[in-house]
Amino acid sequence: MEVTFRIRRQSDRAAPPYCQTYQVDLDPRLTVLDGLHYLQWYVDGTLAFRRNCRNVICGSCGMRINHKAGLACQVSLEKVARQGVVEIAPLGNFPVIKDLIVDLTPFWQDLRRVDPCLAPLAQPSLQTPAQRAQVATAANCILCGACYSACNVKEVNSHFVGPHALARAQRVLQDNRDSKTTARLQQYHHQDFVWGCTRCWQCNEVCPVGVQPLDRITEIKQTLLQDRNTKVTTAVRHRRLLLALVKRSGWLDEARFALALVNWWSVLPLGLRLLAVGKFPFPWHFQPSRGRTQVEELVELLSRRQQTP
Ligand code: SF4
Ligand code: SF4
Ligand code: FES
Repeated sequence: MEVTFRIRRQSDRAAPPYCQTYQVDLDPRLTVLDGLHYLQWYVDGTLAFRRNCRNVICGSCGMRINHKAGLACQVSLEKVARQGVVEIAPLGNFPVIKDLIVDLTPFWQDLRRVDPCLAPLAQPSLQTPAQRAQVATAANCILCGACYSACNVKEVNSHFVGPHALARAQRVLQDNRDSKTTARLQQYHHQDFVWGCTRCWQCNEVCPVGVQPLDRITEIKQTLLQDRNTKVTTAVRHRRLLLALVKRSGWLDEARFALALVNWWSVLPLGLRLLAVGKFPFPWHFQPSRGRTQVEELVELLSRRQQTP
């Protein structure tokens, strides 16, 4: 199979990036990583990339393949070569050191911010299979950086701790052998931690080993919302109000939602602009959904399920 690699390269940290194209004849069953090795060994020894295990274990070969973050050793050329072309770029949201090698320092720094190691209890505690199952998915993380690369919030807010760190946060928070649960809950209850996530789903989309960081973030949020000691912040009021309004009307009454959540003066400019273009959501225009009763039953059913241990 004739494959064209279009690779975004950069000779050092300060140099401008450029695109280099290579055309080679390769077995389509090879992985993208095999293809890069072929290029490095037989075509251009200056091409730089990272890898170690070649088997979806170490997380070293993270890069963007056709604009989507993933592992080069996981995908075959026949799956990703569109009309024979594969586009490769370094992971996003990281400074580039050279070609496809990125500087992982901010990634590790963010991971440390969630205090990622278990703090053992004074008395060693056993773990049942059910308790283990609660943390098993997050424990599969291989710290490859794909979710960090894809995270839209990380791109615009360097204070946000990132999906990899929050997946680890769920893993230590919900582990029955950890002694810092209360302190962790307080720490993660913050805009730079769980409440900074905009639920864009990109981290779930790219994670190569099914950690599904967004689902782990949601589990932390649910723990916070069910904890009576959780400080009531705007984020907490937002979730509770949203649920109450949807339960009552079957869908969201946006005007009531905005007015109940923020102070009237802060939404006045927006209200005036909506009025000027005839889009102001007057409360008397709002119609409950025809499926209102079913939605109410569904919300109650789910609430009962969450309360059942
Ligand atoms: S959560 Fe998934 S994508 Fe993110 S670092 Fe861990 S393994 Fe990689
Ligand atoms: S769902 Fe949240 S953590 Fe995941 S990529 Fe989107 S904003 Fe980032
Ligand atoms: S080389 Fe280890 S995960 Fe790809």
